[in-house]
Amino acid sequence: MYESISVVDIFCGVGGLSHGLLNAGLPVRAGVDNDLHCCYAFEANNPGTAFVERNVDDPRLPELLEVIYGPTDMRVLVGCAPCQPFSSQTQKNMSSREDKRGDLLYRFADIVRALRPTLVSMENVARIIRQPVFRDFVANLTQMGYHVWAKAVDCRKYGVPQIRRRLVLMASQLGPLELDSSVYDRYKTVRDTIGHLEAIPAGGVSKSDPLHRTQRLSTLNMRRIRNSKPGGTWLDWDEELRLTCHKKKTGQTYTSVYTRMAWDIPSPTITTQFYSFGTGRFGHPEQNRALSLREGALLQTFPQDYSFVRPNTKAMDISMSRLGGQIGNAVPVELAKAIGRSMVEHLMEHGVLRS
Ligand SMILES: C[S@@+](CC[C@H](N)C(=O)[O-])C[C@H]1O[C@@H](n2cnc3c(N)ncnc32)[C@H](O)[C@@H]1O
Repeated sequence: MYESISVVDIFCGVGGLSHGLLNAGLPVRAGVDNDLHCCYAFEANNPGTAFVERNVDDPRLPELLEVIYGPTDMRVLVGCAPCQPFSSQTQKNMSSREDKRGDLLYRFADIVRALRPTLVSMENVARIIRQPVFRDFVANLTQMGYHVWAKAVDCRKYGVPQIRRRLVLMASQLGPLELDSSVYDRYKTVRDTIGHLEAIPAGGVSKSDPLHRTQRLSTLNMRRIRNSKPGGTWLDWDEELRLTCHKKKTGQTYTSVYTRMAWDIPSPTITTQFYSFGTGRFGHPEQNRALSLREGALLQTFPQDYSFVRPNTKAMDISMSRLGGQIGNAVPVELAKAIGRSMVEHLMEHGVLRS
């Protein structure tokens, strides 16, 4: 390990980004998030870290982070600000200026200005690249003297079995820094990732893994999934099963909801609602149910033993929507590992680290 480097992850959630950086050999010291429900998973799976329950908006946060970094460590600041203000759904409903969460990127820049970390990385939805708040973020870093690189990347090329494009920004005070462009020559598939898991019914849970649990389906949705073909659409269903909105002209384009994934290609983007049959192509390829929480986590490249709930948590205390949200919001661990590897190589090139 590299004792003289300290990484802090703001908006750390349950730790997808931190876990990937740790796997790449970067010592993550702390994660900051205002949702205490993320604390257990963040700390339990990421040894040596502390969860700091704080609002990133808190003006005293830089002072606290100054203590966490210590006076002599080389500072690395990473974070994935909430993506909802920039998601396509939110963009349809409101301008990003109306959603205060968009402002958190300005707070991110304020923290960089206060702490001057040597390396910075930020991850977000691809469409943020066109937003004024993002252009301002890049301009702020450039004006502070950072070499800034940003690109919307195809996560499949980094070992993530999902069709997912994400914006990765990397910035360094030492010189140009880019995400390593190493490409997987074969994309991982749904079968490679979840094909080995035990079969469970809709509304069921595995005896050996409390995360391998699925949402119940109504009688009507059970009939619909039985009529769904892997990789197909609701156009495969009998007429009487179709939703009223599907029958309208405007509903005809939404063919990738209420349907099954295909086994031998990557999955669609895992969203915060991947556990629900009606919100995307989130039906299991052959079992009559939506994805389980564990399947969503594996597709996000969390390791299978990543623990999201304390041992012996009662079933009634496991919230599908909360955990589904945390898993769907995470930076895929394999993408985070690629970010970490690129940082390590960069630090070696500049003589800060020795191999
Ligand atoms: C996109 S998720 C981050 C995912 C995380 N990096 C991972 O890889 O698992 C955004 C996180 O920001 C947190 N958050 C939202 N607003 C915040 C605020 N004002 N201060 C601190 N955390 C905030 C949310 O609770 C959520 O966990």
